[in-house]
Amino acid sequence: MKTNVNLRPYNSFGFDAVAKCFTEINDIQQIEELIQSDIFQLEEHLILSGGNNVLFQNDFFDGIVVYINTKGIEILKDGENEVIIRAQAGEDWPDFVRYTAEKGWHGLENLAHIPGKVGAAPVQNIGAYGMELKDSFLRCETIDIASGTKRTFAKEDCRFGYRESVFKNRLKGQYIITSVDFLLKKNAPLHLEYGNIKVYLEQNGIEKPTLLQLHDAICAIRDAKLPDVKQIGSAGSFFKNPVIEKAQFEALQKDYPNMPHYDEPNGKVKVPAGWLIEHAGWKGWRNEHVGVYDKQALVLVHYGGGKGHDIVDLAQRIQDSVKATFGIAISPEVNIV
Ligand code: EPU
Repeated sequence: MKTNVNLRPYNSFGFDAVAKCFTEINDIQQIEELIQSDIFQLEEHLILSGGNNVLFQNDFFDGIVVYINTKGIEILKDGENEVIIRAQAGEDWPDFVRYTAEKGWHGLENLAHIPGKVGAAPVQNIGAYGMELKDSFLRCETIDIASGTKRTFAKEDCRFGYRESVFKNRLKGQYIITSVDFLLKKNAPLHLEYGNIKVYLEQNGIEKPTLLQLHDAICAIRDAKLPDVKQIGSAGSFFKNPVIEKAQFEALQKDYPNMPHYDEPNGKVKVPAGWLIEHAGWKGWRNEHVGVYDKQALVLVHYGGGKGHDIVDLAQRIQDSVKATFGIAISPEVNIV
């Protein structure tokens, strides 16, 4: 256990928060030992995966940060049509997705290039380009932080929703995800419908993409729109896309006929928060330290030298402004600690 550790390398915003105690986990046994230790029982704890969806709003975390860095990929079943594959929580998500695409196994390709680790992916049911983690998720193995016992969560147990799961809500902070099992298909149609995938493929002269070509196309599309966290601090989309009543949408559409929207199964309408933020005038806004990314308004960025609360303050100003302009409340998808 180390003390007074700067968490800058462990959060993609790149803020200088200091953890009172910090420990890195490289195998599951270490988790079991840690849970039984006196210090763990006494102190507040934060389970940290890649730190790609977390905002440290204070300069000091008064407790133990547990950094999960377990590695390993295992094929549990290699059938005629499908594969069941287990990845340990600390595996790098984009590397893992590339590996499955290179093997020709379908299911994760549209989730290419999302920064983070495998263990964090179920927590917010990561999604992009028309696919979500839950579409290929089979189960995950966890450890109950209170008792130290193992528990398997089947898909139904996880209560997946849009950027939601039981691990973010009812059971928040209660379980450590140690590994995730995915069910991938050896043959499946590619999902090319979303956004500008088709346009990109056409522009690059790719008529019938292979799985790997689609994977690489998604990487290129993301690179063009989203900041590279190695260069500019961010946590990807900062807010969730709000879902509003149809009547409210129809009223807004009179003033904003070009507002993009997606019908939801429950008769409601999802509106892109990036569009709302841009049309409230925030796209590209910046001060010395933080700002709104100029190519994607849903992404708040840290240019360096700032504090977590600079982002918290900016997010609040944006929320107030979107509410005042459109009457729509937007809420963060990032985990604010
Ligand atoms: N838009 C604007 N201005 C902007 C940004 C977006 O007008 O500054 C409009 C776009 O023109 C488009 C619509 O909003 O009509 C949607 O934009 P985009 O396709 O970029 O997707 P998004 O809804 O902003 C979501 C996910 C992203 C994911 C993309 C692609 C959420 C919160 N975000 O963004 O996920 O990569 O779709 O599938 O659902 C993340 O969660 O960290 C993340 C990056």
